[in-house]
Amino acid sequence: MTLKKFDSQTLKNVGVFTSGGDAPGMNAAIRAVVRMGIHHGLQITGIMQGYPGMVNSEFNPLSLSSMANIIQRGGTILKTGRMPEFHQPEVRARAVANLRAAGIGALVCIGGDGSFTGAHLLWQEHQYPVVGVPATIDNDIAGTDLTIGFDTAVNVALDAIDRIRDTAASHDRLFIVEVMGRDSGFIAVSVGVAGGAEEIFIPENPATADQAVERIRRGISRGKRSSILVAAEGHKPGRAYDLAEAIRKKSGFEAKVCILGHIQRGGSPTAIDRILASRLGAGAVEALRRGECDAMVGVQGDALVTVPFDNVIGVKKKVSSELVSLARTLSI
Ligand code: F6P
Repeated sequence: MTLKKFDSQTLKNVGVFTSGGDAPGMNAAIRAVVRMGIHHGLQITGIMQGYPGMVNSEFNPLSLSSMANIIQRGGTILKTGRMPEFHQPEVRARAVANLRAAGIGALVCIGGDGSFTGAHLLWQEHQYPVVGVPATIDNDIAGTDLTIGFDTAVNVALDAIDRIRDTAASHDRLFIVEVMGRDSGFIAVSVGVAGGAEEIFIPENPATADQAVERIRRGISRGKRSSILVAAEGHKPGRAYDLAEAIRKKSGFEAKVCILGHIQRGGSPTAIDRILASRLGAGAVEALRRGECDAMVGVQGDALVTVPFDNVIGVKKKVSSELVSLARTLSI
């Protein structure tokens, strides 16, 4: 797909919003958009709460100084939300009318696949230009090696697993740690490898309770007294309890369950996330200045790239099967 272009010569005011699940580093991305935009003489307007703020005209001009002391903060100062009503064309039309009435000529959308779907429709239906910045702890966005928030979430989960290992080893216990990841197992696989998990359950390739029991038995046969299994929550937060029950029924092994949940979405972003967010936020402004739109900025290797939304939305990014099998080999 080729990149869509708009006339950016007359662009004066760019809106920025965060959308979908929050991710540590979103504030660093907002800061980069505002400061790079103002550096180039643009006015930057913050849109509150994601798409709802667009529909309700919740617009606030953002200054250089309003960005002070946010680079290290988790969450998003612009707030975020999901808006099922944005699936309706008339709601999108109202949003565009509000933006145009406020003189906002283009948008930077900081969010994930669902947020980009709305942005894509704004271009298709109204020729309204948007550039996306990938931000989700799940790292499940095609066209970029990394998304904002993933590294922090992995480190938060890993810290928890290290702590659980202390108590698991002290009591000779089996633990199942449930991490986030609705449709993808990037967090589970990363923390599974880095935390030495005995088995990893991911939505893409669910391991079975039989497999887990076999792995635990193999460990016991070579003298292992405690084990940690990592499971992505998939579409059922709390599924680790089902897994524990299935393992108990098959083997009699009693597993303790620890669900990390939204803890993984909070906290101060890591250096990796702050640098990524700064590059992508600034890159989104540069892309708009070049007249590029209906696209996402991402990182591929060392390069900052602009990828058409057509090549991003609904495209499945694959979890590394090499990492899954590495975790299995190294944990026995
Ligand atoms: O941000 C992505 C994600 O954390 C998924 O892994 C998870 O399934 C989902 O969001 C839960 O989000 P919420 O509780 O905000 O609906």
